[in-house]
Formats: sequence, C-alpha cells, structure tokens
Amino acid sequence: MRFLVVGGGAREHAVAAALHRSGAEVVVASANANPGLDAIARRAVRTDPNDGPRLAGLAREERVDVAVIGPEAPLAAGVADALRAHGVAVVGPDRAAARIESSKLYCRELLERRRVGGQPKWVAPRTVEEVDRAVAEFGRPFVVKPDGLTAGKGVWVQGSDFTDAKDGGMYAKSLLVQGGRALLEEKLDGEEFSLMAFVTDSGVYPMPAVQDFKRALEGNAGGNTGGMGSYSQRDHLLPFLSADDRDRALAILVRSVDAMRAEGLAYRGILYGGFMLTADGPLLLEFNARFGDPEGINVLTLYEEGDFGALLAGVANGRVDPNLLEFRLRSTVVKYLVPPGYGDRPRSGGLLTLDAGAIESAGVHVLYGSVEAAGPATVRLTSSRGIALVGEASAIHEASHRVESALAFVKGEYYVRHDIGTKDDLARRWEHVRRLRVPGAKTSPLPLSVAAPGAPPSSAGAPETLLG
Ligand code: AMP
Ligand code: GLY
Repeated sequence: MRFLVVGGGAREHAVAAALHRSGAEVVVASANANPGLDAIARRAVRTDPNDGPRLAGLAREERVDVAVIGPEAPLAAGVADALRAHGVAVVGPDRAAARIESSKLYCRELLERRRVGGQPKWVAPRTVEEVDRAVAEFGRPFVVKPDGLTAGKGVWVQGSDFTDAKDGGMYAKSLLVQGGRALLEEKLDGEEFSLMAFVTDSGVYPMPAVQDFKRALEGNAGGNTGGMGSYSQRDHLLPFLSADDRDRALAILVRSVDAMRAEGLAYRGILYGGFMLTADGPLLLEFNARFGDPEGINVLTLYEEGDFGALLAGVANGRVDPNLLEFRLRSTVVKYLVPPGYGDRPRSGGLLTLDAGAIESAGVHVLYGSVEAAGPATVRLTSSRGIALVGEASAIHEASHRVESALAFVKGEYYVRHDIGTKDDLARRWEHVRRLRVPGAKTSPLPLSVAAPGAPPSSAGAPETLLG
C-alpha cells in the first residue's frame, strides 16, 4: 500500500516510520526537508502542505491509496476535503469537522448544545464591556483563549501568564479588537493528560494515555509551547490516572463524536482530547483533530507488531479491525531537543552532531523534527522543535534515564527538559492528584513544591508502576 504523509515534523517522521515498519510505501509532502523522512520516503516533495489541489494532484500522480494529514493547519485549510473530492481515502477530518480543533468556540458550543458534559465553566464575550462583566463575574482564577489556532501558544493562564485579572481582561479585549473571538474559562486545578483515539464510522478506538509537558522550562516555568516532551506508562494509564478516569475521558470523546455525527459531520481520523484530571474527574481542555506532537511519537513507538498501514487504511475507509490495535506494554519517554531560548526567543542556526548508531544502541530512537541536514551526522536547528529522542523501558523513569544517557551522543548547543519522566516529577504529580481527591482539599490544593505539615513524603504509597 502507498501512503501520502502530509507534514514534515517529528510526529510525521513517527507516522512514516510506523508505516515503513509495516511494509507500506511513503510519499511525503512538506514545506521543509526532513532528514528522517527523506531517508524512508520513496519520494519527498517540497510543497505548501495547505495546498489541497496540489496535494490531490500529487496523490493521483503517485497513485497513493491513503493520505495521512499530520498537522492542524492543512485540516483547517480543507486539504482532507480536496483529497476526498479526488477519490483519495484520508486519515483526517474534513474542514467542517476539524473545527473541533480550529475553533475553540465552535467546540465548546457544540458540546454544550449536545449536552456532552465534562466541560469547565466558560464564556465567550463579544464586546469589551462583556469582557469586563465576565471578569467580574468569574470571581476566581481564569484562562483566556483565542478562538483560533495558535500552535499551543496563545492561551494565557492566570498565575502563570498573568497575575491580575485585569491583565487577563486586557488580553481578551486585545483579541476582540483584532477582530477575533476569545474564550474565558475557569482555571482548572489538576493534572493534564492526552487521550487520542482512532475515529471512524465503525467506532472510537483509544490509544495509550500520554502526559505532555507544555511549558518551555524545567519545573513547568516559561511559556506554553507545542510540547517539550511526554511520557506514557506501560499499562497505558498514567501514574495519577486510573482506568476509571481514562474511561470517563473516553466517554467524553465518544459523546463528542456522536455530537458531530448528530450534526451531519462524519469523522475519519485521529481525535485527541486534552484533559485536566480534576477533583471532579476529567474535564476537557481542548480537542485536536490529529496526532499530538509529541504524544503521537509515544504511542507510535509502541505500535510495532501490528500492520499500521492496514490500521490507517481502515480508519480512512470507515472500518477498523480491532485486532490491529496492538500497542506494546512498555513505558515511553520523549524529550525534544530545541534551540536555546525556545519558547521565548529561539536562537536558530546552531549545529547538532548526533551519533545515531550509539543512540539507537542505547535503546533510544531518533526522530527528526524541524532541522536541516548540514553534513554527515550533523543537523542545523531552526527556531522550532528540533530532534525528538524516544526512550522506552519497563518503568517511566528508566525510559527517561535512557534518553538522558543518549544525550552523551549529541554534541552542540540545545535545550532539553531533563525533568520529564523523572521519579521526583512523577511523584509530585501523583501526590497532586491524591491531594485533590482528599475531601475538603478541593479549593486550596497545596503548591506542588511544598510539602504539607506532617504530610508523608510525596512518594509514600505511590503505585509500583510509578516507582518502578
Ligand atoms: P489548550 O490549547 O486549550 O489546550 O490550552 C493550552 C494549555 O493551557 C493547556 O495545555 C493547559 O496547560 C492550559 N489550559 C487551557 N485551559 C485551561 C483551563 N481551563 N484551566 C487550566 N489550564 C488550562
Ligand atoms: N502536544 C500538544 C499538541 O500536539 O497539540
């Protein structure tokens, strides 16, 4: 089978590598050259990934069976519509259904209209006066979100991105003045997780849960990014996430797909729910209409034994064989190597030299993101996320340790979050959720870094999977 993969980042490299492992042929269409994709593609074409007619022409010329759309922008631009109009089966929703990601307002309104549940309190003011009223009425910390796509960087959270409610209000007003819409949402306390599913006519098929690290700097400081790294746990849950929590999140995904169907929108692709696990269970932060980056890298690393080509062809054609949903029972950790200053003022152009053989023999995979080839074993960083290193092991912290060991084989200037998947970080997150669940602790959760007087050490009672 022959696939067209649209997009040129590490997520698309992971998709193409999983297809390649299953014996499929891959044609790549991306704006940038990607050394990883170039190495496995039968043909790699430089083109605007948002140009539907051009991609439909390429799909015909190359006789591709199925197209897989990696990033959100082509989905929002209607690339899936153009491909389907030319008879190409596609993993990725049409523009109308992709609004579940490309318009946060559409998403919230749809879920409210169809009584899906699992939403925080939200309001979408239309005028600056309504912003003032909403801020006054919220009466507790809130979050401001632009309606449209912002590559994960437009959301402002009170306490992290602004302190005074007035400043949040000013930000919301500035979005309105620029002609857009803004949402104000109650700020939820809890732990975030991502639950992705293959969605097609025959059902909704979940993948292992993943936790993404969105903030640029260690200790979750700095601005929101597309994601600095992520981990998954060998039982496909997370240290703080029970099977019941996961099932409640999955029910929100399923009801949302039903809501779209009830409004005449078919969905064949990946649906990614970004959730906050709160004292009241999982609540939806956002939907994405694609694999997460980096979360897709975690789950695709676990897909080795099944026929990934057949699985994606099933999604694109409306019927998935459940026997193809085979994710290995291993923990994974992804860490992105990014240019110094990433998240604020990235310094592009730095060279990285990788001993890929030594990295692979340390049990770590290399996936290429936004980098240019610059000689044998050398790449040049751009202003975006450069190289994803993926470690796997039985326990999460072991997988993290593997990635750390592999860093010895990367020379050059880069930034990486060393705290992703460490025992300390996992224990803090587990403890955070434990405290939220203590009755009466809902409104005043302890800061993650502060131990309660007389509280047991943060890892006491932590599950075996956490401490490995
Ligand atoms: P989004 O693009 O909606 O996922 O928002 C980006 C990030 O902002 C999320 O990953 C969260 O870290 C944070 N965030 C979004 N909505 C909320 C909320 N209602 N409460 C707390 N944090 C939020
Ligand atoms: N890692 C978050 C995203 O893919 O949007």
